[in-house]
Amino acid sequence: MSALPTAADTVILGAGAAGLMCALTAGRRGRRVVLLDHNGKAGAKIMISGGGRCNFTNFNVRSTCFLSANSHFCKSALARYAPHDFIALVERHGIAWHEKTLGQLFCDGSARQIVDMLLAEAAAGGVDLRLGRRITDIGHDGSGFTVVTEGGTFVAPSLVLATGGPSIPKMGATGFAYEVARRFGLDVVEPRPALVPLTLGGDDLAFAAPLSGVSVDAVARFGKTRFREHMLFTHRGLSGPSVLQISSYWRAGEALGFDLLPDLDALAFLKERKQVRPRAEVKTVLAEVLPARLAQALAGEAARPIGETSDKALAAMAERLKNWVVTPAGTEGFAKAEVTAGGIDTAGLSSQTMMAKAVPGLFAVGEAVDVTGWLGGYNFQWAWSSGWAAGQAV
Ligand code: FDA
Repeated sequence: MSALPTAADTVILGAGAAGLMCALTAGRRGRRVVLLDHNGKAGAKIMISGGGRCNFTNFNVRSTCFLSANSHFCKSALARYAPHDFIALVERHGIAWHEKTLGQLFCDGSARQIVDMLLAEAAAGGVDLRLGRRITDIGHDGSGFTVVTEGGTFVAPSLVLATGGPSIPKMGATGFAYEVARRFGLDVVEPRPALVPLTLGGDDLAFAAPLSGVSVDAVARFGKTRFREHMLFTHRGLSGPSVLQISSYWRAGEALGFDLLPDLDALAFLKERKQVRPRAEVKTVLAEVLPARLAQALAGEAARPIGETSDKALAAMAERLKNWVVTPAGTEGFAKAEVTAGGIDTAGLSSQTMMAKAVPGLFAVGEAVDVTGWLGGYNFQWAWSSGWAAGQAV
């Protein structure tokens, strides 16, 4: 005789950032919540986020910091559960935090504090958390949803897809939410790696690889989009915050531009140095404003004094410094992508509740949805805001 299914008001798939927030919100409203995850631990990505300190939100959250086929979709949820709401929760739990840079908020201590806080809130809301459960089937009829796992069956009138995107599969990330969404007739905007290091080939790689480990303050440009943060040369290409940011916008085959001296008029600087330090080598002059290894690479092999360098050659060098153009060979892929861009098409979802317009009772939240934030706490804020919106509605 098989055991009777466990009945709940809602079953949430995925105990990550968005699923935990949705579960604790619904639980606090008195809803009977089952939260399922195939991993043995909840909030695995939170634990390793922000270098172990979790960049849990950002003071500068606004809709323009998110990529989506519908740039307006995220506004409602972000306004209803804003960064200050999450900060208030963090403070209620006595978790000390600080602003690092560019509005990014981190725990003073450890990301574990955020996971413990979410789990404590979920427990207080009576959430039935079941970890290590592989989901084998999902059914739907007039009365609701049936979720079959290797460790039992669950029935509820609502189902929340909170299983994130496929970035970092070795942590248990999957495209499961997309499969389920498609099965229910929802469209999926093609998922692609975002906030991801870029790879180079040919001459670009020959230039970058020997500079592996060198970091420089740079503006990365793609069309009208630009980010000024550090960029890092790697043995395979480019990384660092400005590159990760621009990677979310970059499209295969297109070129990117970099300003390696964002605070300087490079040509005016080089000409002034030619007057003032004519006997100095070009690499020495460049090393006044750039890391020495990069200065050497840009100056080339010839140990030439700047005074003997033609204005034409200086103009070419200035152009390279202000507008270094590279066409990446590709990205490091989902294995190294901090997030997945694309996902469940927002056109099929209510921006108020995250419920599928055509499938009453089916919700999608967090990274599984086609809303992708910049680097800097934006993706967690989207997880909190969208999870909260659905948690109010299930
Ligand atoms: P999330 O991935 O958190 O959770 C999904 C859950 O679903 C997981 O627990 C997973 O096990 C489960 N799951 C998946 N498939 C399943 C299946 N088939 N069956 C059952 N369960 C399944 N963002 C930010 O704002 N600040 C930061 O500091 C960082 N730092 C950071 C570092 C690193 C290394 C990474 C990889 C990512 C970040 N991020 C970040 C991004 C952030 O972690 C991410 O956007 C959120 O965790 C997304 O929350 P979700 O709940 O949507 O997915």
